[in-house]
Amino acid sequence: MEPFRFHVFVCDQQKPEGVPCCSARGSAQVLEALRREINAHGLEDDVQVTTCGSLGLCEHGPNMVVYPEGIWYSGVTLADVQEIVRSHFQEGTPVERLVRTDLAALRAEIVHNRDRMFAARRAKEAAGVLPDELNDRIRGFQESRAVLTALELDLFTSVGDGADAAEVAARLRTSPRSTEMLLNALASLHLLAKREGVFHNSPATARYFTAGSRDNARPALLHTAHLWHRWSTLTDCVRAGTAVSHDEIAGRGEDWTEAFIAAMHRNASERAPLVVRAVDAGKVRRMLDVGGGSGAYSIAFAQANSALRADILDLATVEPVAQCHIQQAGLADRVQVRIGDLRSGPLGEGYDLVFMSAICHMLSPAENLDLLRRCHRALDPGGRVVIQDFILEPDKTAPRFAALFALNMLVGTEGGSSYSQPEYAAWLGEAGFGEVCHTRLPGITGLMIGSRA
Ligand SMILES: C[S@@+](CC[C@H](N)C(=O)[O-])C[C@H]1O[C@@H](n2cnc3c(N)ncnc32)[C@H](O)[C@@H]1O
Ligand code: FES
Repeated sequence: MEPFRFHVFVCDQQKPEGVPCCSARGSAQVLEALRREINAHGLEDDVQVTTCGSLGLCEHGPNMVVYPEGIWYSGVTLADVQEIVRSHFQEGTPVERLVRTDLAALRAEIVHNRDRMFAARRAKEAAGVLPDELNDRIRGFQESRAVLTALELDLFTSVGDGADAAEVAARLRTSPRSTEMLLNALASLHLLAKREGVFHNSPATARYFTAGSRDNARPALLHTAHLWHRWSTLTDCVRAGTAVSHDEIAGRGEDWTEAFIAAMHRNASERAPLVVRAVDAGKVRRMLDVGGGSGAYSIAFAQANSALRADILDLATVEPVAQCHIQQAGLADRVQVRIGDLRSGPLGEGYDLVFMSAICHMLSPAENLDLLRRCHRALDPGGRVVIQDFILEPDKTAPRFAALFALNMLVGTEGGSSYSQPEYAAWLGEAGFGEVCHTRLPGITGLMIGSRA
């Protein structure tokens, strides 16, 4: 018994450039249209669409198989999608002109392609050719750099509703020659579409990368563009054991701080509801948000509990950004910002929650222990310190995001890193917290919580 009336497997396999595959023949567009059309007919609970790897008919893609009947469609175009949905999924009649009925030939073709693929793989292996996955990983920076440059230039906004290379270059005041190269490269990545010499944003770039769009992520993504320069020093940092250019956050330019806090704010706004729930804001009376940045977490806590008061401790350069968010949230009477240095001096007293999100990874183990001791002193008995960070498994090789983030800290700080759950537990114990627990959150961060007896 099938759980759905129809289960459609659509091949979206991408093969190396020049090798025929469904992806190169437009499977992404067909898939998008198929999902749209299925929804438009109200069939989303009847027809389950699953993407899959090669079905073995790579020269004739995009290919799809529909179960329970086992109907194979080959060479599906955007123009065919409406008919397939209406005729096959709504009325139950497969679209004959697209169905592969020559089953013996179909099988022979698939088997032939499979054998050819295995033979090519064996030949490559025997010749010692660098496998594609390794090659792709090594060259991955080229795609990333192209997109980051486009973001730095605000190219997607300049493309707007459609522009040719000369128009984009004139708007950006860049060289027409190189602008065209960049636009073509972005089109090859399907971030732009090129029609008769005119470039158009994809739905995703229009939504996330252009000024005026509600979901424009460019201000926050510019932080990643800034990080690029740091990562270029990784080899020297590995040799030296620390960042090779020390300019802590306070000493960086205004652009850097703005992009950094925008990036933090975006992440924080997304994660704050999870944290507020896991920590149970209802229990909190007075909290200290150490290095609270844009204030997103304090604001979320204050919104969840109308009796809660929060103090944010952060640098003078960040204070105006936090004030602005607090004002916008209408919480100036309950959320305050204190300018100060989290690396030294007392943190205050009388708190029942000290919250530190994305702080410990900036600091060395010795600095973390010192900070946690000061957190302990700032708490009333029964109070909790809650650390949110990218917490590594004990052997430090997973999660991958946290393991790579350790390098991000290596290139950007003097002694920072990602730390493991046993390391946090040891510091919390040494700082005097009697009860320590690790709470996993959905996504890339987790919480370490210590309670003061
Ligand atoms: C990675 S951000 C995290 C911001 C916020 N907690 C969040 O999770 O969105 C680190 C924060 O620590 C602040 N910070 C860095 N060094 C500091 C220092 N020495 N004293 C006080 N705040 C500092 C930064 O300005 C920034 O707001
Ligand atoms: S890549 Fe789709 S069938 Fe081979």
